[in-house]
Amino acid sequence: MTPFDFRPRTRVVFGAGEFSRLGEIARELGGSRCLVVADPGIVEAGHAQEAIRSLKARRMEVVAFHNFTVNPTAAMIEAGRDRAAPHNIDLIVSIGGGSSMDCAKGINFLVSNGGKIRDYLGYGKASRPMLPMIAIPTTAGTGSEAQSFCIVSDTASGARMACGDPKASFRVAILDPKLTMSQSKELTAATGYDALSHSVETLVTTRHNALSECFSRSAWRLINCAYERVLRNPSDLQARGGMLLGAHFGGLAVENSMLGAAHACASPLQARYRLPHGVAVALMLPHVVRWNQLVAGARYHELYSGDLEQRLRDLAEMAALPLTLREAGVPEEALPRLADEASAQWTGRFNPRPLDAAGALELYRAAL
Ligand SMILES: [Fe+2]
Repeated sequence: MTPFDFRPRTRVVFGAGEFSRLGEIARELGGSRCLVVADPGIVEAGHAQEAIRSLKARRMEVVAFHNFTVNPTAAMIEAGRDRAAPHNIDLIVSIGGGSSMDCAKGINFLVSNGGKIRDYLGYGKASRPMLPMIAIPTTAGTGSEAQSFCIVSDTASGARMACGDPKASFRVAILDPKLTMSQSKELTAATGYDALSHSVETLVTTRHNALSECFSRSAWRLINCAYERVLRNPSDLQARGGMLLGAHFGGLAVENSMLGAAHACASPLQARYRLPHGVAVALMLPHVVRWNQLVAGARYHELYSGDLEQRLRDLAEMAALPLTLREAGVPEEALPRLADEASAQWTGRFNPRPLDAAGALELYRAAL
């Protein structure tokens, strides 16, 4: 059997209403000066203010940082560091989707270890301790709250850089499905499909092991059942809970098994065409499942006894996601360059069928 070394680093608090315990949990971590990282949408939804109230009620000093967008850039991370620097913070609370969590991790690298985000490209480059962090995801998607990686875009080129360190893991994740109700239908659809893709891609990577499989399967079971329900009825709290927990298990699966060709091919689509991550992944995943069939067909079949490729297509259609690259605004002549870029992605290295530029081009053509 494949060996693994698994150390749980994140305390997980799950349940409707658990968000109200933020102040108490922050105090338990010993913090007294806190940076709250929340994107502008979360401020608008009122969640950021609620977090700040909960922290202040426990007599914590709070500095807030909201000046970033989806796919945060290195410059935005530096702005977050500048915001935090004069306040000598000892705790970071991240509230929002993947971008809030990526941003918090990025700021933590700079505040605790100095330098530029580029210095942390790869894994394990932070030599000094990092600040404790609490994650409160408001989308059921990336599962970034379970991961020690952050993805930051290069300010000029938009290329995505993965920076990871065991110390960049969140100390606590508060999973409160009530918070995910404020997502728009489009966000629920795209982020939910991303979570679904994590369960499928992680199950078959070259890194998969007995433990990552537990997370992949649990994620699939929960999301395959809850995704349709939240699309039909966005206020179904049970289904929202299934999605949020499923996305968390998916994040744990990614942390322990890496990702595959759908994520490698999605990355240049995001950088060049500004497609949301989940939309880009949904365009590629059914084709990747077919392309991997020869080497991974039996494992896919263990996950889903029917036609997995068709199931993934049906779910994308139900979610009203674009089904072809053309529909998403990607022209045929762009494919060779996209394929070159996809083959250079680190995620492609773990795909069960080795991904080179020719393979990526085959996948993009199928998705056109
Ligand atoms: Fe993803």
